[in-house]
Amino acid sequence: MTTFQHVPVLLSRVVDLLAPALAKPGAVLVDCTLGLGGHSVAVLSACPQARLIGLDRDQAALQIAKSRLAPFGERVTTIQANYSELTTVLQNEKTNKVSAVLFDLGVSSLQLDEPDRGFAYRHEGPLDMRMDQSSGESAAEVLNNYSATELTRVLRVYGEERFAAKIAAAIVNRRAQLPFTTSTELVELLYSVIPAAVRRTGGHPAKRTFQALRMEVNEELMGVKEGIPQALTAVEVGGRVVVESYHSLEDRMVKRAFANATQSGAPTDLPVVPDAWQPRFRLLTKGGEKADSAEVQRNPRAASVRLRAVERVAA
Ligand SMILES: C[S@@+](CC[C@H](N)C(=O)[O-])C[C@H]1O[C@@H](n2cnc3c(N)ncnc32)[C@H](O)[C@@H]1O
Repeated sequence: MTTFQHVPVLLSRVVDLLAPALAKPGAVLVDCTLGLGGHSVAVLSACPQARLIGLDRDQAALQIAKSRLAPFGERVTTIQANYSELTTVLQNEKTNKVSAVLFDLGVSSLQLDEPDRGFAYRHEGPLDMRMDQSSGESAAEVLNNYSATELTRVLRVYGEERFAAKIAAAIVNRRAQLPFTTSTELVELLYSVIPAAVRRTGGHPAKRTFQALRMEVNEELMGVKEGIPQALTAVEVGGRVVVESYHSLEDRMVKRAFANATQSGAPTDLPVVPDAWQPRFRLLTKGGEKADSAEVQRNPRAASVRLRAVERVAA
């Protein structure tokens, strides 16, 4: 059997940020991105009074997390769900308020390392890239059906790919002869479009395109936009929300949502701010926290992380 590894990013910092909210009987942590359960195992070990509701839209990840979390017995509930439906998930669980919510955004090593899932540009595999393989369009469908304009937008916005228009035109051209089915076909096309001089300095030529397709296929920014406000609504006073982002657009959304939540809604000229207008949250982090160089060396995934956290201070 293949064993998959996923090294959790900023693990001890995440535990330290969540633990104060979970040090009481009946405390509930929602891990919205359970993945292989690395963060959750550490939090449950450090917080013996806490219970976990763990979500992931990826059935394969959930199965692995479930067996890793088995030693915690009834303290753990795992659910296949999109965190953009957090409120509904909590209603179904008859859980009104929770003590802490964690988001560790993006993909796990399980998804990246498994060729059959199509996330990896270094392995031949079907161009799928869906985290939830039971619904939505695959990466091949995006490549074969989107217009050149739509493809350019996806590659430029999500991948920050400077050759977006050129790549999109080449995709449209090639699929007219033969539709895309495998990751290797797309990688070969990218090698032919991206100039050799750029390939030598700009990292793997497929990295940005694969990232962009993955974000489009899984509507990742939409999930963040919808999920974070629901998490802020779900936490009780004293409760905490911790988010790790790996893409500048995601981090910007988190920063904006936290800034709104930590600002007073009162007009600036009021001499005394009434309670109803006091901010509901306080920031626990100063800017987006990064991993130190030792962690990045051990775990390259940590290089792009930005961690932000807030605590609810008023109902
Ligand atoms: C970076 S991994 C989490 C790793 C985890 N913290 C650990 O320590 O093992 C992100 C996980 O979130 C899941 N995910 C991404 N977007 C999601 C969404 N909108 N709803 C639910 N799960 C999502 C992915 O399937 C993936 O397993």
